[in-house]
Amino acid sequence: MLFEPLSFRGGAVAPNRIALAPMTNQQSLPDGMLGDDELAWIAARVDGGFGIVETCAAFVAQDGKAWPGELGVHDDACLPGLRRMAARINDGGGLGIVQIFHGGVRAPREVSGTQPWSASTWTEDSPGFEPPRAATEDDLERVIAAFAAAAVRCHQAGFGGVELHGAHGYLLSQFLSRTMNTRTDRWGGDLAGRARLIREATRAVRAAVPAPFVVGVRLSPEDFGQARGLDLDETVEVARGLSDDGVDFLHLSLWKALDNTRTRPAQHAIPLFRAAVPADVRLFAAGSIWTRDEAERVLALGADAVALGRVAIINHDWPKRVVDPAWAPVRPPVSPQVLLEQALSPQFVEYMRRWKNFVS
Ligand SMILES: Cc1cc2nc3c(=O)[nH]c(=O)nc-3n(C[C@H](O)[C@H](O)[C@H](O)COP(=O)(O)O)c2cc1C
Repeated sequence: MLFEPLSFRGGAVAPNRIALAPMTNQQSLPDGMLGDDELAWIAARVDGGFGIVETCAAFVAQDGKAWPGELGVHDDACLPGLRRMAARINDGGGLGIVQIFHGGVRAPREVSGTQPWSASTWTEDSPGFEPPRAATEDDLERVIAAFAAAAVRCHQAGFGGVELHGAHGYLLSQFLSRTMNTRTDRWGGDLAGRARLIREATRAVRAAVPAPFVVGVRLSPEDFGQARGLDLDETVEVARGLSDDGVDFLHLSLWKALDNTRTRPAQHAIPLFRAAVPADVRLFAAGSIWTRDEAERVLALGADAVALGRVAIINHDWPKRVVDPAWAPVRPPVSPQVLLEQALSPQFVEYMRRWKNFVS
């Protein structure tokens, strides 16, 4: 099953059901242009057999840039780098998908150069937190256009698709949130209002690119970390709406893909979303999938593809290796040397020190 091709609504086909999860790696140049280190990281995973290769979160507008070294898709000046990356993925036979992103309140002034904005304004008791300003109609019009323009650039560059980052408490997820979005106009209030931004951005992206170009959305089904104010039943409803809006796939960010939901401990998220959306809307699932057996159990729950994060950092050729039943993936903690040998730059290795028990 893992190695069967995966076809999408619009006609695109991925060679297998194993995706490299979107992973921020801070290896882009200071202005957001692609650097050689980022290309090398991606190239090793394509050659390692990942049939679907997602990039890191890439900012669609300067005011949405959340990290130094983040990849940009905000300007035509990014096109030469994007073309190089797309060509390398295509040459390796993978389906390349750019994760298009706006940080909202998580795009700090020292990175973006401007005051962060979000659905509403609020304060948080965390070091360096700058309260966001509440979005104007103009901000919303601009950001929807920026998502669409970013998708057009990715298409022009030769990628197979894009994924709107609607998970993890970034801009689109901030608007979905019952707690972060306290607006009383048409962009807030009931679920239809709070989901308006993610749905309008998705529709604008879908309308801007031709059918075989894959359009997906990543969602956090429930609260986790910075994703707050979400409700499982509401997220299922959003998934239904996004299916009507023409997505090819939905990507569930589960953190522990084999666990049941926290809202309903007897129920798993994958069958819940599977039952809610048409069968030709593909479901990706990510979260603590380390072995082939775990990946196949996630598919058996109703996912069409698995997305691998940390295991793919340490095992760049996981898809090629798992065909050997005797093989077991290397697990963290690992030394910096091991990570360098897996085509991470010293910069990326340093970033991985922020992940608990990852770098020894
Ligand atoms: C270093 C690192 C960077 C990440 N960056 C992103 C990102 O840019 N966008 C995103 O949606 N998720 C990001 N994630 C989450 C992963 O895509 C994935 O959902 C998560 O790590 C769980 O999968 P895993 O247990 O296989 O690592 C990141 C995870 C890691 C470890």
